[in-house]
Amino acid sequence: MRVYDIIAKKRDGLELSKEEIYFWVKGYTSGEIPDYQISALLMAIFLNGMSKRETIDLTMAMVESGNTLDLSEIDGIKADKHSTGGVGDKTTLVLCPLVASAGIIIAKMSGRGLGHTGGTVDKLESIPGFNTQMNVKQFLECVKRAGIAIVGQTENLVPADKKIYSLRDVTATVNSIPLIASSIMSKKIAAGCDGILLDVKVGSGAFMKELDKACELAREMVEIGVGLGKSVTAVISNMNQPLGNAVGNSLEVIEAIETLKGKGPEDLTELCLTLGSHLLKTVNKTKTLEEGRQILIEKLHTGKALEKFCEMVENQGGDTKVIWNYGLLPHANYSLDVIAEADGYVQHMNCEQIGIAALESGAGRITKDSIIDLGSGIMLHKKVGERVSKGDIIATVYTNDEEKLRDICRRVKSSYHIADESVPMTRLIYGVVDSQGIHKDFE
Ligand code: URA
Repeated sequence: MRVYDIIAKKRDGLELSKEEIYFWVKGYTSGEIPDYQISALLMAIFLNGMSKRETIDLTMAMVESGNTLDLSEIDGIKADKHSTGGVGDKTTLVLCPLVASAGIIIAKMSGRGLGHTGGTVDKLESIPGFNTQMNVKQFLECVKRAGIAIVGQTENLVPADKKIYSLRDVTATVNSIPLIASSIMSKKIAAGCDGILLDVKVGSGAFMKELDKACELAREMVEIGVGLGKSVTAVISNMNQPLGNAVGNSLEVIEAIETLKGKGPEDLTELCLTLGSHLLKTVNKTKTLEEGRQILIEKLHTGKALEKFCEMVENQGGDTKVIWNYGLLPHANYSLDVIAEADGYVQHMNCEQIGIAALESGAGRITKDSIIDLGSGIMLHKKVGERVSKGDIIATVYTNDEEKLRDICRRVKSSYHIADESVPMTRLIYGVVDSQGIHKDFE
């Protein structure tokens, strides 16, 4: 088999066989096939797409490029959750202990933030002592003890994706639905859970800016998972403004803990209840969404979800005192308020720009090796649909880099569009995709 012929076949819009897909994935991972040939092949896939069968074969070829986790020695229903990434998205910090308190085992590997979107591992690392880096044995021990563990990716899990993703990043081939779907699902399949809940974000702060593309991605990921024998549901949710009010690592941890105490922002609480009730149904813990929602509301109100969070923090070496004393978390030395210049209503926000402002404050990474400032970020005091009066504080920027403060405030201010007409609060959920197809909540 020659990689040249595989490139030519895909260039001409033909389907690759399973053998051909395994051949190039294996050859590229081992270093036998050079970057320039896979760059050409990725561009051909980007332009001509892949069939469902090809995408499933690509997913499995990537899964089989490295180690997989075997969770069979852990009793109970094991579930995983994945967000396609957004701004202020601290859902994992709330949702995972919430569903774990309802008896679901959570063995989750999360990522770090890159670019304008944040990552769960960075957020958790703002809790002093919290260990996100462990080997498979330690990870499984952790899950067994508390019924929940959230860590960074373990070594050699889907090495093909690491290489292919880096190449896509520099060859303008990231934004391809079969490539994104196989990249995400290969990591979920390798992580070994029974059920998977996908939170597919759409909007100005998300990867997918258009609803039809987000639906297509959700459908593709669900089909891959179901095709490989997993129970998968995807919820399509709004990322046209940050989720909740906090953007930045320790700020988001505080907001997540407040939510677990039942005092969180409405949108974050609602998203966690919606995702959670879908997750419980996906793994057959409950028959209806309403039944799941009632269980989760009870876990929030009785403090059981917060207790589970506390157990997870303790189990992973973190200082549980932070839960009652936020002063123990990293914080920024400088802050500046963003002031409204006119009366009106927040019409919309440029969510990506808010993410970039948080990145500039020190909360995010420009390259994979950037050192981040866990205490910096942005608190939003006004969101879409809310009334604003001239002189109101609409946001506050926190940073340890005093020189950047004014520029960041300017960026945040320009992300807000305020005008006279009132606008409705934004819709949080657009629809759900499961093995039965798409259930739209729009049109
Ligand atoms: N996240 C991933 O893990 N892979 C992609 O291709 C895009 C987002």
